Formats: sequence, structure tokens, C-alpha cells
Amino acid sequence: MSLEPTIETDRLLDELQQLAAISDCPEPPPAVTRVVFTETDLKARAYLQGLYEDAGLTVRVDPIGNTFARWCPPSADADAPAVGTGSHCDAIPHAGMYDGTVGVLGGLEAIRALQREGFEPKRPIEVVMFTSEEPTRFGIGCSGSRAIAGVLSPEDLVKLTDDDGDDFDTVRQRAGFTGDLADVKLAEDHYHAWTELHIEQGPKLEKQNMPIGIVMGIAAPATFVFHVTGEGGHAGGVLMPERKDALCAAAEAIHSIEQFARSSPSPDLVATVGELDVFPGAVNSIPSKVRFTLDLRDTDADNRDQIAQAIHEDCNEMGLRRGVTITSETLNADPPAACDKAVIDAIEKACNDADLRWWKMVSRAYHDSLFMARLAPTGMIFIPCRDGVSHRPDEFSSPNEISAGVEVLALTLAELASS
Ligand code: GLV
Ligand code: MN
Ligand code: MN
Repeated sequence: MSLEPTIETDRLLDELQQLAAISDCPEPPPAVTRVVFTETDLKARAYLQGLYEDAGLTVRVDPIGNTFARWCPPSADADAPAVGTGSHCDAIPHAGMYDGTVGVLGGLEAIRALQREGFEPKRPIEVVMFTSEEPTRFGIGCSGSRAIAGVLSPEDLVKLTDDDGDDFDTVRQRAGFTGDLADVKLAEDHYHAWTELHIEQGPKLEKQNMPIGIVMGIAAPATFVFHVTGEGGHAGGVLMPERKDALCAAAEAIHSIEQFARSSPSPDLVATVGELDVFPGAVNSIPSKVRFTLDLRDTDADNRDQIAQAIHEDCNEMGLRRGVTITSETLNADPPAACDKAVIDAIEKACNDADLRWWKMVSRAYHDSLFMARLAPTGMIFIPCRDGVSHRPDEFSSPNEISAGVEVLALTLAELASS
């Protein structure tokens, strides 16, 4: 039977907008802030749960809030490894409304489209909403999918803390997620295949006028926290030769990080210092302590590690010269992921069946699929976003672009669930 799934685009857009309205951002949608385990996150989860139930899916929430909504009609072998799809609904402060949500609500709409078509899968199809893909609260990204894949053990999970000093375990329980953390890791054979639909978060598809990107691999991310300790003092009393200003040292470090990244042999290496805390933070007081983060990524993990090493050596030399101490911790330094040939082929066939042009590319952003690839054969479907903009309120993918992505996702799920 040749499938021609019809996507109910208006309904999907309405759902995306309703989800965007569940936000803590002081600005109205499309600006969105939705941080894991807040009241707002819980409201968004309740909204999604209602949609899953309306579609007749069976919902399971694991001990850390990863939510699995399963379609297992009589045609499917309930014991067979499932075909999985999904993404995240948390949003960094002052984000847009499409990052992650297109994969979760699009995954649901793909299943509904297959239901409307009368498609009979041979195995269950499951849409997943991962807890905390964004690093906003606990410092590392993808905590839900890391734990599912066994990359983050229960012992690692409880060590994560937020800015209030509350640990992950306390915060998840306060939010109503209980149960044994050892039960989060999924069995190796839980998924037959995994695929995630996501906006590109870069400009390439739009520039090539390509409706679909087929992801071949996901770049390797690393996150570090630097602590600079100098000497505080009176802004009027301490003369310049006597100063050990922690913020001036941090400024020099940040500038040289930019230089290292700009002169990297790999064009895909990117470095971002996105958080800076200054102590004591008074206009007339010399900063004595600074904390800053470094997000460093590359498609080439060896190059990333060499640049990280060079940055650390440079900081040590600069610290000695300025009389300040610079220490750092590595929060994560993950290897890249390669997508699976069979899943890539299924996506390519889906694009051809839907008569949509496609382009093979790497993902320079990370995604839950980086960790799902450790558990199951994995692929990703990208759609363009305007000017490549993401992690900003003006992030935008058009209704047609979203609809095309969901159609390809539906056809891919159907192909993967047909054997
Ligand atoms: C995901 O949000 C990323 O930062 O790549
Ligand atoms: Mn994001
Ligand atoms: Mn995302």
C-alpha cells in the first residue's frame, strides 16, 4: 500500500502556539522560557499528556519525567522493539517556540496522520518527550536522554545541582517524579530504530532552498566551567600595578578563547562563553571572583580536545602572569554520533516518496539523538529555519516547512515499523 499521509498543519500550528503560551518569559510568545521541573514545565507536560491521550496513546512517565507515548494497535507485536521518535519541550531563557517542540508535537502529528491513513504498523511506534535537553538548570544538556542511554548513571544524576544548590533528585521529586533512578536506563533492545525531527538551527537548508536535511552525524559538544580567583579591594584605593582583578583576567581568557576558535583548523569548531558571574558585583569594588562557562563543539572531537587543551594551557600561563588562580571543571565532553545507514535510507526513501528534495548534512547543534544513537540505530530529519536563527524569539519555520518535515517523519516511521 502506498501511503500518502495528510498532515493537519493548522491543528499542529495551533498546538505549537498553545505550548508556546505556557512560558515564563516576560515577553509574550513567540518568546519562550520553559525550564525543567518548574510549574511551567509541569503545565506543558500536562498539556502534552492530554494530547497523547486524545490520540489513544498509552503514556508512561519514567522516574525523571521522560515521557513515552506509545501507539500499539492490534497489527503491532506489543513485545517487539519499538520505532521511536521525539525531542524536548524545555526552552532556554528567551528562546523561540520551535526548538524541540516541532519534534514532539510533530512526532504526535505523524502518528495521528498514520492512524488516519489506516496504516498498520508491525511494531509499536512511540513518541518521547525528553526531560531537560537544555542545560539551563543543571549545567549539562540532554540529561533525560543521557540517563535513558546509560551515559548518566543514577550516581551522576544525583550529583547535578541547580543554582539554588538543590540537587536533581530533590528537584525531580518535588516536581512529582518519583521512583528508582536505576529504572531510567532503557533496555538495549527497547528501540528497533530512532528518528528525531528538528529545526536546523543553522542557515544551510534555507540557503540551498532545500526543504529537508538528512543528518549524517551530530557534532561533539563539551562544556567547561572556569573559576577565576583574584583579589578584591576598593575601586579608588588600589592602584593599577597592585591589582589582581578576576574580571580583567576572565576578559583576557574570553578574548583568547575567541582567537583560538577563529584560528582553528576545523571550520566547524565553535566556542561560546554564555554565562559570566562576577563577585561581589559592586560598581566600586574590584572583582575578586569570576565564574564563566565555555561551550566548545566540533564535528572533529580530536580537534575540539586539542583546542580545549590549548585554552587551558593559555589560561594557566595568563593566571601566573596576572597573579590570579584559574581552575576549571569539565561538565561534559561527549563524542560525536554517526547516524545509521538503514535509518538514513528510510528517511531518503520517505523524502523521495513525498517528492521532497533532500540534502545530507551534519548537525552542529546537539540533540537527544546524540545519546539515543548509543541505544538504537538513529537518524535525524532537519527542516529549515528562517535565517538560521534559533535560541532566539524570532526563530521561525513556516507552516509548509513544518508540514513537509512531519510528512517525511510519518513516512519514515511507517517504513521503519513495517518490518
Ligand atoms: C541544543 O540546544 C544545543 O545547544 O545544541
Ligand atoms: Mn535548544
Ligand atoms: Mn533542540
